[in-house]
Amino acid sequence: MLLKKIFVITVLISIFIKAKCMVIINQTIETAKDKDGNELYFLPGDKLAINECLLNESWAIKSNGGKFYMRMHMDGNLVIYITKEHRFFWSTNTDNTGGKRLCMQEDGDFNIYGLENNVLWSSNTKGKYGIFVILTNCGYLEMYAEYNIKLWENKEYPAPHPKEDEDN
Ligand SMILES: *[C@@H]1O[C@H](CO)[C@@H](O)[C@H](O)[C@H]1NC(C)=O
Ligand SMILES: *[C@@H]1O[C@H](CO)[C@@H](O)[C@H](O)[C@H]1NC(C)=O
Repeated sequence: MLLKKIFVITVLISIFIKAKCMVIINQTIETAKDKDGNELYFLPGDKLAINECLLNESWAIKSNGGKFYMRMHMDGNLVIYITKEHRFFWSTNTDNTGGKRLCMQEDGDFNIYGLENNVLWSSNTKGKYGIFVILTNCGYLEMYAEYNIKLWENKEYPAPHPKEDEDN
């Protein structure tokens, strides 16, 4: 009797877990078309947490409020756009470097990597205990540690992209 009960409960729990997972899987992803007509998918949330990366230029991260989004282009450039009209706002200035991956590292560095895991751009925040980088609704990237301690922001780092007219 007891075994039967345990079995039933186990089955119920696993169905419940499955149902929960399906909700996550079935989360609707917001999409848009960029200036060139390519499909853009917005990842849920406005952050990159430890061990999370952007590695496909079709997948972007949008600020909470939606005014800005960032996209890791496969020419190596991380670009922040004004969502309205996809206008250029800021970039790491690393186009044509071969960068393919933007990652929030476990060691607290926020880096762009090339194909050989070579670092092409870095926030230089290793060892500062950052746990996530957020794209704010003012278009800035900010890194935080626990207790909401701000460790880094991209405001003057590096200099804003000189080409205001860039529009891809
Ligand atoms: C996913 O969500 C849509 C819209 O809410 C719904 O119609 C569909 O049945 C869901 N699919 C699954 C597998 O839950
Ligand atoms: C990037 O994501 C899109 C949409 O999910 C997919 O169609 C495409 O194959 C991906 N590209 C690469 C290089 O993985």
